[in-house]
Amino acid sequence: MATHKLLLLPGDGIGPEVMAEVQRVIDWLNAQGIAKFETEQGLVGGSAYDAHKVSISEADMAKATAADAVIFGAVGGPKWDSVPYEVRPEAGLLRLRKDLGLFANLRPAVCYPALAEASSLKRDVVEGLDIMIVRELTGGVYFGEPKTITDLGNGQKRAVDTQVYDTYEIERIGRVAFDLARKRKNKVTSMEKRNVMKSGVLWNEVMTQVHAREYKDVTLEHQLADSGGMNLVKAPKQFDVIVTDNLFGDMLSDIAAMLTGSLGMLPSASLGEVDSKTRKRRSLFEPVHGSAPDIAGKGLANPIAMISSFGMALRYSFDMGDLADKVDAAIAAVLASGLRTADIKSEGTTPASTSQMGEAILKELQKLHA
Ligand code: NAD
Ligand code: IPM
Ligand code: MN
Repeated sequence: MATHKLLLLPGDGIGPEVMAEVQRVIDWLNAQGIAKFETEQGLVGGSAYDAHKVSISEADMAKATAADAVIFGAVGGPKWDSVPYEVRPEAGLLRLRKDLGLFANLRPAVCYPALAEASSLKRDVVEGLDIMIVRELTGGVYFGEPKTITDLGNGQKRAVDTQVYDTYEIERIGRVAFDLARKRKNKVTSMEKRNVMKSGVLWNEVMTQVHAREYKDVTLEHQLADSGGMNLVKAPKQFDVIVTDNLFGDMLSDIAAMLTGSLGMLPSASLGEVDSKTRKRRSLFEPVHGSAPDIAGKGLANPIAMISSFGMALRYSFDMGDLADKVDAAIAAVLASGLRTADIKSEGTTPASTSQMGEAILKELQKLHA
């Protein structure tokens, strides 16, 4: 059996709390001989700043490069509000994405049957929802230069962020979206703002070309990102795969989270290019949510997004799709039993703690595997 090297980066706030629940699953898989994971731990975000005055150390970057996959918790929090911008906690995550070349961020939003009542939207709007947001992750306004604040000397400052996309960046994220659609409901909706932004014009043009050249069998639709956001809450089941840029993808995926009941539900996979020789790709798996400073340290965090992100690692990095299906089924079963963490709307039940939820999911997984 192959040994898979994982780097665990729990980070800050609820990051370590939800990572402990993934560790529980890993320990069980190893103990049962179902898989062989070798894990290392590292520091990222505020915890790295406290230890080394950087948002991630060179040693931990080297570990991330050497790992078969990185499992990431969350970073940030008010404690680090006034640290220099270059070493703020979020910079550690952005460096990991950029330096590992993780250009494709897959954010599935699935409404589990038991949670159709938990969404802030009506049951019939969200019931059966299964969409995939494909967010471009290493380009756009997150990384474009110049990125500056200049003192204009007249009591005014000017802040500049730059949205940049090259053809190849749009082509490769488009291919990821079209390939995924072929295994799903065969539809891609591309979102940009071509009515205002040059990058939107190019995005639209390149998506259309890639589609016409390579993916005529897939349905391609274009929506402006603002009304696309509206449609996401009006009639989300019209979507299958949504492909969009870095910033729109960030916002649209938090919105999509509420269709599933809670931000604490949404996992993600950040993937690099497939190496033509080894057929492997770099990867990092991270929940969509942040460090949730308002509930950190209280054992209240929902570990489902984190456990489900580990499920995505099994599927996308380790070719263990059957096991990933079982992780999803275990989560569905626990939710069907009525167990809820406090972030999920429920009627009159006492909320489960992070570890109670993690334990219950592992128990179901054990049953499904027996
Ligand atoms: P957040 O996602 O941390 O929290 C938003 C709200 O959702 C909060 O009320 C929080 O309690 C709740 N929430 C989030 N995850 C939850 C979970 N698993 N279980 C239960 N409730 C959950 O977003 P924010 O408050 O805007 O940001 C807080 C910090 O996190 C900031 O420093 C931000 O930069 C950072 N952040 C980090 C990541 C990441 O590391 N990937 C992602 C988003 C935000
Ligand atoms: C996310 C987060 C990050 C982003 C931050 C923490 C850098 O909000 O992963 O959704 O904006 O990409
Ligand atoms: Mn975000």
